[in-house]
Amino acid sequence: MAAEIFEKVNQVLEEIETATPKTKEEVEQFRIRFVGSKNVIKPLFGNIKNVDNNRKKEFGQLVNKVKQAAESKFQELKDQVETAADAAEGQQLDLSAPSEPLDLGARHPISITMNRIIDIFQRIGFSVAEDREIEDDWHNFTAMNTPEDHPARDMQDTFYLKNSTEMLLRTHTSSVQARVMKNQKPPIRIIAPGRVYRNETISARAHCQFHQVEGLYVDENVSFADMKQTLMYFAKEMFGADTKIRLRPSYFPFTEPSAEMDVSCFICNAEGCNVCKYTGWVEILGCGMVDPAVFETCGIDSKKYTGFAFGMGIERQAMLRYRINDIRLLFENDTRFLGQFKSAL
Ligand code: PHE
Repeated sequence: MAAEIFEKVNQVLEEIETATPKTKEEVEQFRIRFVGSKNVIKPLFGNIKNVDNNRKKEFGQLVNKVKQAAESKFQELKDQVETAADAAEGQQLDLSAPSEPLDLGARHPISITMNRIIDIFQRIGFSVAEDREIEDDWHNFTAMNTPEDHPARDMQDTFYLKNSTEMLLRTHTSSVQARVMKNQKPPIRIIAPGRVYRNETISARAHCQFHQVEGLYVDENVSFADMKQTLMYFAKEMFGADTKIRLRPSYFPFTEPSAEMDVSCFICNAEGCNVCKYTGWVEILGCGMVDPAVFETCGIDSKKYTGFAFGMGIERQAMLRYRINDIRLLFENDTRFLGQFKSAL
């Protein structure tokens, strides 16, 4: 009797040791038979009552050994199957497959245009200067040779801060030039990009906010010819190598002499179109030799140094380039409009 009982346990042990389940399903069968809640080992413990007292201990140890053998073999099989499954999944995962498209935003046409201008001037040694949009009267006007009651203040309708005659929204980034001149010794070679404000009635052609890039070059012996050459380089880089420039005499309080620069129309190659109003020329910027009075106000020796300055509006250039017919589109942030500039250069 006892021998039979022992024999049965040894059979189960052998069955466990020789089992070779391969697939997930076969391993599951193994689990159900030897490890699961209704496994075949559990009932074997019950047979202990039929074993002679002097062999009960031996029997108990044997059944426990079978139970442990079943558990450790199952763990081993399970690990094998999982590793194989991971490997198979790895093969299915195609790392070269194209990814889900991400809906990227687009750069704003103002930024695209501004960055191009900045890049062109940086290549010839200008660095970028930035400063505040809320300015005081001194930096925006007085330092720019436009004292109070000067009629030229009317050229730029100004937003003053509430209850203030002193603080205003800058009307041009010339205020940045004033700050740089006060704090830096020549040679100075900067461009000042940024947003400016003027109290204008909003229409398709005008807005109360817009962007500028202004430039300033101060050193000994800087001449009008240097300015012309610099601006010609800019025009050719910006609008194409065939571009011609034309300087017309003009007036700004902070430069003398002053000029406005036209470029040959890059839309129609100067043949005449509605953008250049059939003149072949498009006005791009204002410029001139820095007035000695500006140097003196900003603490630069006007006997030793000369310089040139220029300033241009960005919206106008972006509108010409991308044929945008209403300036308001540039400030409304309608994604149907902005989305059109995803691949713009
Ligand atoms: N500050 C002028 C403007 O905003 C532009 C300008 C800058 C003209 C420098 C000449 C020289 O209109």
